[in-house]
Amino acid sequence: MGFQKVAEVQEFERIEKKLVELEDKKILLTKVDNAYYAISNKCPHMGGSLYKGTLEDGVITCPRHGAKYDAKTGKGVGKPKILFWEFKMENEPSYSVKVQDGEILIDINGE
Ligand code: FES
Repeated sequence: MGFQKVAEVQEFERIEKKLVELEDKKILLTKVDNAYYAISNKCPHMGGSLYKGTLEDGVITCPRHGAKYDAKTGKGVGKPKILFWEFKMENEPSYSVKVQDGEILIDINGE
């Protein structure tokens, strides 16, 4: 399929993250350091929506058990915890993003 439009650059004047859907995949699109990044929205721990989490300094925190992911790469940077139990850290899939004529495009088959 290649790159597909998911948002306009203009939208990110007011927001820093957006939930988009491409071919049945829910994707978290973020703006970090003036560039755009896309990772899977589904937390690999127990499926929490990362879109509902908090984005701070390029790190998205899952609202369910606090796992942290690098919003640029999807790399796990903080383990999920329930009470005092810590769980295995996994990485999120990430997708290629490009900006063209004010539009943000994602290629879900590219990495
Ligand atoms: S579902 Fe995301 S940390 Fe548990």
